[in-house]
Amino acid sequence: MRMLDKIEFYYFSPTGGTKKAGQIFCEGFAKETVFRDLSVQGAEAAQTESEWIVVAAPVFGGRIPGVVTEKLKKLHGEGKKAVTLAVYGNRAYEDALLELNQTLEGQGFRVEASAALIAQHSMAPEVAKGRPDEQDRKEILDFAENVLDKIKEGLGTPVKAPGNVPYKAAMNMPAAPVSLPSCTGCGTCEKACPTGAIVMKDGTAAADLEKCILCMACTAACPEHARVLPPPLSERMEQMLGALKDVRRENEFFL
Ligand SMILES: Cc1cc2nc3c(=O)[nH]c(=O)nc-3n(C[C@H](O)[C@H](O)[C@H](O)COP(=O)(O)O)c2cc1C
Ligand code: SF4
Ligand code: SF4
Repeated sequence: MRMLDKIEFYYFSPTGGTKKAGQIFCEGFAKETVFRDLSVQGAEAAQTESEWIVVAAPVFGGRIPGVVTEKLKKLHGEGKKAVTLAVYGNRAYEDALLELNQTLEGQGFRVEASAALIAQHSMAPEVAKGRPDEQDRKEILDFAENVLDKIKEGLGTPVKAPGNVPYKAAMNMPAAPVSLPSCTGCGTCEKACPTGAIVMKDGTAAADLEKCILCMACTAACPEHARVLPPPLSERMEQMLGALKDVRRENEFFL
């Protein structure tokens, strides 16, 4: 009976790693999880009904993607409690966890526990490949136990996440994935794009560089594997991140 009865799990997970890591936590934290996907194009997040929420967002350039923050800023916390998870690709999470917490606190939630978790890098999949793995799973489930202990002990002070204010400048890369000739024009990527950046044109998918946040949802969704980063950008990522292939960063937990 230690687990909570019901929680709502708000997540933004263009390529699935954030959801996977957050879901492990939810499994150990509550008997029932209601999923609230923040990536649905143009849709506002449903208001919170449960006493506890779990919020998981990926780290983009050391920050939380703006589209996520905008949606969270429509929620009414009214003293409800939150566990926050910033999920990053083995480089660094910088100001992202602090930003996530401050956003939720600004909406009236009490952030009781937080974690910075590792998942496979969505732009350089050889980095942190396969994570969260079995070891991560064990650590995340232990963390869920520890949060339940904190609740049993009557909660204490809200959690303090590392990071700086002002936050580092938001990533600004006017680029987007491109479609290969094998694109069939099926439109799956258009529906999957959280920012509405893709329009179907002449039987292929074209992205508006101003709207694209390089989240990689379209590449993950394409059934033909026909959506890729432009080769020069892909090479740059490889140069920037290649050295992290052999590094294993550890998950960090804050209570
Ligand atoms: C545009 C972009 C920027 C990213 N910036 C960072 C970063 O600053 N630090 C890092 O460690 N990982 C970074 N990553 C990797 C993601 O945080 C990581 O792969 C995350 O798990 C992606 O979530 P998803 O699998 O739910 O899409 C970035 C990925 C993308 C697409
Ligand atoms: S076009 Fe850009 S914003 Fe849209 S899914 Fe692809 S990478 Fe993400
Ligand atoms: S999902 Fe793939 S095949 Fe379908 S339109 Fe997009 S790029 Fe083309």
